[in-house]
Amino acid sequence: MICRILLLISLTSCVSGTFEVKVTQTSYQAEENHNITLEWMFTTKPDSSSTSLNIYCEMFIDHNDPVLYHVHEGDEVPESQDEQFAGRIQSDKDALREGRIRLHVSRLRTDDSGLYTCDVKTDYGVSSDRCLLNVTAAVDQPEPQKPTERPQPESQGRIGLYVGLTAAGLAVCAGLCLAFRLCLTKYSDKTGLSFRSRSYSANSSKNEQTTMTMVL
Ligand SMILES: *[C@@H]1O[C@H](CO)[C@@H](O)[C@H](O)[C@H]1NC(C)=O
Ligand SMILES: *[C@@H]1O[C@H](CO)[C@@H](O)[C@H](O)[C@H]1NC(C)=O
Repeated sequence: MICRILLLISLTSCVSGTFEVKVTQTSYQAEENHNITLEWMFTTKPDSSSTSLNIYCEMFIDHNDPVLYHVHEGDEVPESQDEQFAGRIQSDKDALREGRIRLHVSRLRTDDSGLYTCDVKTDYGVSSDRCLLNVTAAVDQPEPQKPTERPQPESQGRIGLYVGLTAAGLAVCAGLCLAFRLCLTKYSDKTGLSFRSRSYSANSSKNEQTTMTMVL
């Protein structure tokens, strides 16, 4: 039990005494030509001199690692910056005093994509952390409007075509119906006539019969 307590005390004292650099975000997603702010936080010590602060932020590539931000003994060293980032990095000096490295990267390029690391060295510790930036190619602005505009007249045309076809179909149907009706009435007229003639003859025969009975 005593051992455990001692271990806990030694661990907490160890942790509280550590100098640490941590990213606020492990990965960033952005589009070409947009801006982004990469941020790292580091442990500050009130009684430490600002001249003890050294920061080295670079992009992590296999061969040459382009530098985007360099602070030497409390002062920014713009000459260290790689031409890839020239005029595109803005640092926040007020945030730096509070233990935050805030790098505003403007006009993002697709080749800015990669791993970014910041090494911080003070008289009370050394540490670093990294984050991933993914810059995707910009989508052309007029393009997304075209597909939304185009299908409308197309679908309208289609609807028009369907309406026209349906109307034509209905007209043909109506015509057929009319023709059929005409045929039917003509046929029934003929049959009607024959019926009438038949009834006529029946009548005449009846009359003949009556006349015959009258005669009888
Ligand atoms: C990007 O940052 C620059 C200055 O660094 C600013 O002029 C521009 O308006 C920003 N663009 C966007 C899309 O936020
Ligand atoms: C970058 O973003 C694109 C689009 O979201 C995605 O397809 C791609 O996998 C991402 N790349 C990395 C390395 O995360």
